[in-house]
Amino acid sequence: MASPTPSPTPSPTPSPTTAPLDPRELGRRHLSPVMARYFERTWSHGAGHRLYDTDGRAYLDFATGIATTILGHHHPRVDAAIHEQVDRLLHLMNGLGYTAPVSELAARLAGTLPAPLDSAFFGNSGAEAIEGALKLARRATGRTAIVAFEGGFHGRTYGALSVTSSSPNYRAGHGPLLPDVHLVPYPDAYHANGGDEAAATVDALAAFDRLLAILEPASVAAVLIEPELGEGGYVPAPPAFLAALRERCDRHGSLLIVDEVQTGYGRTGRMWGFEHAGIVPDVVCAAKGIANGLPLGAIVARRELHERWGVGAHGSTFGGNPVACAAALAVLDTIEADGLVANAAARGAQLETGLRALAERDARIGDVRGLGLMLGVELVRDRGSREPDGALGDTVIARCADEGLLLLTCGPAHNVVRWLAPLDVTAAEIDEGLAAFGRVLAAT
Ligand SMILES: Cc1ncc(COP(=O)(O)O)c(C=O)c1O
Repeated sequence: MASPTPSPTPSPTPSPTTAPLDPRELGRRHLSPVMARYFERTWSHGAGHRLYDTDGRAYLDFATGIATTILGHHHPRVDAAIHEQVDRLLHLMNGLGYTAPVSELAARLAGTLPAPLDSAFFGNSGAEAIEGALKLARRATGRTAIVAFEGGFHGRTYGALSVTSSSPNYRAGHGPLLPDVHLVPYPDAYHANGGDEAAATVDALAAFDRLLAILEPASVAAVLIEPELGEGGYVPAPPAFLAALRERCDRHGSLLIVDEVQTGYGRTGRMWGFEHAGIVPDVVCAAKGIANGLPLGAIVARRELHERWGVGAHGSTFGGNPVACAAALAVLDTIEADGLVANAAARGAQLETGLRALAERDARIGDVRGLGLMLGVELVRDRGSREPDGALGDTVIARCADEGLLLLTCGPAHNVVRWLAPLDVTAAEIDEGLAAFGRVLAAT
């Protein structure tokens, strides 16, 4: 009998592309450079509120994957729900029927929202949620105009990008974007009105009303806003401004879409950011933290609006994946059982007090602002001119990382240091973060 053909001996010197290179070296060769990176570190794993790099160094994670791992890493309740669902059913495509985690999550989400917001469509991301909400608005109203706000960030797909203006780099060279999209100033008290919120509200409303007069209000399908500007620099909208938008949308039959992708789920010390203004939007978009890191996004609106959108008008193969929805149910259980919205409010207040104390000693801190655990520290060359100091922002977060604290920047000039602690952060961890930040500022 012929002996079996020996399998080829592996080459003793692997080819350069298969060599066991450090993920950073491999990534630098083969990952698209289009993704900007805050850090050039290589990460190994996460546990609780710490991320670990491949050298075994621990970092207090106040970046949370940009407001996504809101319960930290490796959360036992979330991990157990994921494992249980993985063993039961990994994927369905919701067009095939119903599964318990998906339907239960839709019902539970409705329970976190005021009436009549009772029905959800699930996608995979924030951009998809915005994309779908814009489609819903146009089809349900039969109108085409969309009004959004300068400095807003809503995602990178064409529809979401068309309402995004937080950095010129995101839009440049990608046009033409969606037609009939109109951007008006966000009420930005610090940058436009010397810190006067009432004046910012009056000015931004005047600009909004001027646009409505030009557009003909009956052509406006939707007004889209973040309750606190996220990527654009952590600027909360004054409650009176959101209330005035609600009034105008009611008057003209336009839909008020609130982008809660970053502000939602307790981040601002309320379950939803719009609650600070006491309004009820027509459409709520959520994503990021809702499944603590698994891809999931939601468009929630009253049933009648979804019905006007129409059966089959929208869909998604992966959206509302049962594993992501099982994780999301565990996130909601944990937020409720552990009182995490109240914790976010309390720890946010502690952090704000600490940051304001630092601002008193350091004139490079032009402003400390935000809601709950969505706080930004604006770094400036001097308080008089309010000129942004982006180089300082970049240096500060790099040195904080060296100190074992992960913070990020935001704003068009990268000069706003943003704090995105997990919702279950402890008082001791907030103190630890403040101490590290204070040391870095003192040494920079
Ligand atoms: C307010 C807001 N909307 C939408 C998005 C887009 O979400 P995603 O990156 O999941 O598409 C983001 C992402 O940062 C966001 O902050």
